[in-house]
Amino acid sequence: MFDRNIYNKRVQWFTNARFGMFIHWGLYAIPARGEWVRSIEQIPLEDYEPLKYEFQPDSCDMRTWAKSAKEAGMQYAVLTAKHHDGYCLFDTKYTDFSSKVCCGRDFVAEFLEAFRAEGIRVGLYYSLLDWHHPDYPHYGDKIHPMRLDPKYSNENRCFDRYLKYMHGQIKELCTNYGKLDIMWFDFSYDNMTCDTWRAQELVEMVRTYQPDIILNNRLEVSGEGLGSLVTAHPTDYCGDFVSPEQLIPPKGIFGETGERAVWEACVTMNGNWGYCAADHNYKPADMIIKKLVECVSKGGNMILNVGPDARGKIPEESCAILHEVGRWMSRNRASLIGCGCAELDKPEYGRITASRDGKRLYYHVMEPQIGYVYLPGIRREQVESIRLLRDGSELRVDEGWITSNYRDLVFVSFGASPLLPDPIDTVVEVRLK
Ligand code: GLC
Repeated sequence: MFDRNIYNKRVQWFTNARFGMFIHWGLYAIPARGEWVRSIEQIPLEDYEPLKYEFQPDSCDMRTWAKSAKEAGMQYAVLTAKHHDGYCLFDTKYTDFSSKVCCGRDFVAEFLEAFRAEGIRVGLYYSLLDWHHPDYPHYGDKIHPMRLDPKYSNENRCFDRYLKYMHGQIKELCTNYGKLDIMWFDFSYDNMTCDTWRAQELVEMVRTYQPDIILNNRLEVSGEGLGSLVTAHPTDYCGDFVSPEQLIPPKGIFGETGERAVWEACVTMNGNWGYCAADHNYKPADMIIKKLVECVSKGGNMILNVGPDARGKIPEESCAILHEVGRWMSRNRASLIGCGCAELDKPEYGRITASRDGKRLYYHVMEPQIGYVYLPGIRREQVESIRLLRDGSELRVDEGWITSNYRDLVFVSFGASPLLPDPIDTVVEVRLK
């Protein structure tokens, strides 16, 4: 039975954390054409499986990954423990198709240790699909690499045996690695959803071993679809947040009864989740910053993806973007971490975020203004202080003749320069009485 009070307590840290790192990594880093390469190119297992011997990431040091995330201001991180290709980055008794067997390393354990050491909350992504397991539907499936080849008929496949495998591995992850903060399932499609996964039983098991863990909504849907979380009758396996993919919801996400839903936009830095050597279409740091602000201003989170290469290095372009995002976050994180929607109209020049108690408003000025910057939604008598967040300097409410037609409104100035103190996003902090 869904208990709204228990739910609100469980998701509180997540709705304050606001910014996470997604890490997609595995054998698919060797073909280096994205994590769907087996499905898109219909690669037979006998051509893909041998990669498990080649995958020996000699440059993989999760501590450097964790430091990059910390510097960027990321509060949580999620690693693909098993993606659709079925390769397991953890020690599992259910298969030899794992990093523990093939390269002697339990990367999930290394990830958890490195990121916990940086004080970053940790989560694991687990693919409900499995293109390696013989009992997962092949021929006729919507996306299986062998979906079009009748030689891969499903007559001798036992899906219950696959579910035993899947539930067993998820239990391993929930019982062998200490406290997990997030389990990020992926993904439901067509009839492969809800009861097909035996979702009720699965979530009861997960919450038994990890009572405080939060789940996404993909036991019911995928990046498209909201799931029953936003309805008046959520299931026990609806998850704890909606997971829009490669899109920021136009107005945020709301439940049927009008309350804001908890959501996290998952976003790639280039166009691929898994390493893709030819994809240099990286989103610039200033865009990432503005999109993160947009998510928070709409009451949501952003989880930003990195796809390390086959040797275990995060691509240099990604590292540079994380470094630049971190520079901005080092001065302005108070306007995002622990904040949410201000429930005020969006100003023409940018966005507004607010502390959860509403006592602090953050005006994100992304376009230079003529003369003065108007701070909508507040009256002068409400204001305790106004500061330029980046350096804590005082900003005084203008009392001059230029704004004299608007004496009940609040205008501030950044000084003589027509340019913004921070060209990406200059943040004004208003503390209310
Ligand atoms: C989609 C993709 C999957 C990726 C996920 C991240 O489900 O299929 O490859 O891991 O998005 O949200």
